[in-house]
Amino acid sequence: NAVVGSVRTVLGWVPSQWLPGGTPDPLIARRAAVGRQASRLDGPLKVAGKARFAAEVAVERLTYATLVHSPVARGRITHLDTSAAESAPGVNLVLTYRNMPRIESPALISLSDFSAVGNSALPILQDAEIRYNGQVVALVVAETQEQADHAASLLVIGYAPTKPTTRFQDAQAEARTPESLLVERNHVSVGRAERELARAAHRVDNHYRTPWQNHSAIELHALTVIWDGEDSLTVHDATQMIAPSAVVLAKLFGLKKDQVRVLSPFVGGGFGGKGLWDHQIVAIAAARLLGRPLRLMLTREGVYRIIGGRSPTEQRVAIGADGDGRFTALIHSGHSVMPTYGACPEPFTLGSRALYRAGSFEMLQHHVDLDVVPNTFMRAPGEAIGSFALESAVDELAHEMGIDPIDLRLRNEPERHPISGAPFSQHARRQAFTDGAKRFGWERRQREPGARREGEWRLGLGCATGSFPYARMPGASARITLRRDGAAVVACSAQEMGMGTATVQTQHAADRLGLPVSAVVFKLGDSALPAAPMAGGSSQTASVAGAIIAAAAKLTGELVRLAGNDSPIAGLRAGEVHLVDGGVGAIGDAARHEEYRSILARAGREEITVTATGSPPLEMLKYAMHSTSAIFCELRVSDATGEIRVDRLLGSFDCGTILNPQTAASQFKGGMIMGLGLALTEETLFDERSGRIMNPSLADYHIPVHLDVPEIEVMWTGIPDPRSPLGARGIGEIGITGVAAAVANAVFNATGRRVRELPITLDKLL
Ligand code: MOS
Repeated sequence: NAVVGSVRTVLGWVPSQWLPGGTPDPLIARRAAVGRQASRLDGPLKVAGKARFAAEVAVERLTYATLVHSPVARGRITHLDTSAAESAPGVNLVLTYRNMPRIESPALISLSDFSAVGNSALPILQDAEIRYNGQVVALVVAETQEQADHAASLLVIGYAPTKPTTRFQDAQAEARTPESLLVERNHVSVGRAERELARAAHRVDNHYRTPWQNHSAIELHALTVIWDGEDSLTVHDATQMIAPSAVVLAKLFGLKKDQVRVLSPFVGGGFGGKGLWDHQIVAIAAARLLGRPLRLMLTREGVYRIIGGRSPTEQRVAIGADGDGRFTALIHSGHSVMPTYGACPEPFTLGSRALYRAGSFEMLQHHVDLDVVPNTFMRAPGEAIGSFALESAVDELAHEMGIDPIDLRLRNEPERHPISGAPFSQHARRQAFTDGAKRFGWERRQREPGARREGEWRLGLGCATGSFPYARMPGASARITLRRDGAAVVACSAQEMGMGTATVQTQHAADRLGLPVSAVVFKLGDSALPAAPMAGGSSQTASVAGAIIAAAAKLTGELVRLAGNDSPIAGLRAGEVHLVDGGVGAIGDAARHEEYRSILARAGREEITVTATGSPPLEMLKYAMHSTSAIFCELRVSDATGEIRVDRLLGSFDCGTILNPQTAASQFKGGMIMGLGLALTEETLFDERSGRIMNPSLADYHIPVHLDVPEIEVMWTGIPDPRSPLGARGIGEIGITGVAAAVANAVFNATGRRVRELPITLDKLL
């Protein structure tokens, strides 16, 4: 499991038989608001333009900044003349390595230290060295954005370039195989897989390639920095890691934790890219030097130049099977890019460890070191592209054996986690597959490729499955303030990136406290609130829910104490009551109940406030916990042009309780649309001579637009996971996982052409 190893590191090693069984969350059985459809609470603010994003905060005496990027991939700055820029109209500051304060780089992302969030270990504007094309070499600050942009064009910088390594193939021979933060064991070897493969009755053994991809969140990376003197820093940042950023910024700028406040109530998409990068550090340093508030919004090109995206991969998947289609060997290995100064190993073999039972396994990832902006996390890092290779290979084996691909998958469904042997907490992929196949009309699929035609179009159906690990991060905290008037404020520095966090946690808190949704306010987006971990790894909902559970338990104890001897609940202990119907009631005895307002009034209290931290996520150590899916695709391919039009897409998910069908459907569909981009359109193109990205714009880097997106249907088993808060597992990243393979498999079914390289552009079909 992706983060189990790291959680073990945090918690220390605990033998699994000592762990609590994880009593199911009682709210699973008596939820009211949770599970109901509800529109996003932040929706009206957004459509009315009242939601203030990081670059929209109104500030007096604001200055505006522009970044300047290196045009060479490797070398040194040999000449630097800032005089023309400095004397240009309106210019306040030109920041280069010469006048940048000495600052450490943030510690690289680590799942065992939740305040380590750096994406790059390279120095930030500290010396004349150039390590990748696009690296920040200057920041120009002026009274207006236009003045800053103009002055940036007047900088004279000379470089002595040295030969960079920017071609994947050139560096592959020297690839490393380190243990890395996301892969508990990089090398998995169970049985003798190569030998089993060689003597298998049936086998496939192929290589797959996936390209570089860039982050394309609609909101550009941006921040507004306000220093109050030298010792008080406020940053409005477009970030998916509010509390961790505040901790890191305090350290880098020599401040105490409470001297830094990071605010991010609304984020226009994150997907793993809205972390801590060089631009925040240089902007904050510049604003301090200048003694003025400063705003920096990256250009779209700037995002491509300094925010890393998804690493390219070359993967081998080999499967051996016996005469009945039971896997005897599963081999998944290959290469991705991770510069020595980067932090993201793109764990493409992770999903393959959890999906199928097999007689033997062999998995190993190699990291290629290139002179490029360090790649980073991008929605389902690893699984999104690993599943393309694995699930294409399964489809190839099914074709080879003449077995229906769903049938082949179900013949290899594991009873327990195939590698660790841990029991699944809840696992109904079989149902997800059969329900999805029925709804989709899978029986219409012709086994023989190319058998369905309509004029110039060949039609095909394909499917694939996905797996994404559940995670709940340690250390999430929440505060509950319960007022005498029966209203509650629940606060946590969680991130709302458009996925519905504010809405779903309001629904959750209402049920947890036995209040109507209208009586609850959920505050988030501010590091001054109790710490939440970053929104990442599809973990935020469970992490925040766990914190609210802990706070509600503490509140229950306080209320029982306050209620005293004159209450209908007198004599009951905290474990014998629950929060229900606007008060505290005996479990199993509706007659013994007292309302909050009555308890607080008798105690002479206006309100009561508690703060608590979620329990350690021991469930992750004891159980194999995964969101899983079955993805179905129907498409057509033009004989004349090779053009692919996707006609239908269906996702059938097994992710535990669905907390809000409306926000969940939106998350699933968004992930699946991103999967269409992965399958068909997205590709970052490098000029391999200079390491320069050649398509740094949404005109040239193609993400799916409305015309590319077909009717998408989503459905789910909705079976609660008894080991997670609310019975829910993550849904943010499972949607994209499996889509590329479903598309590729449908292309094969339509045309008989097997494309093993993403994106599947029309030139690959002619
Ligand atoms: Mo994500 S790639 O965990 O934001």
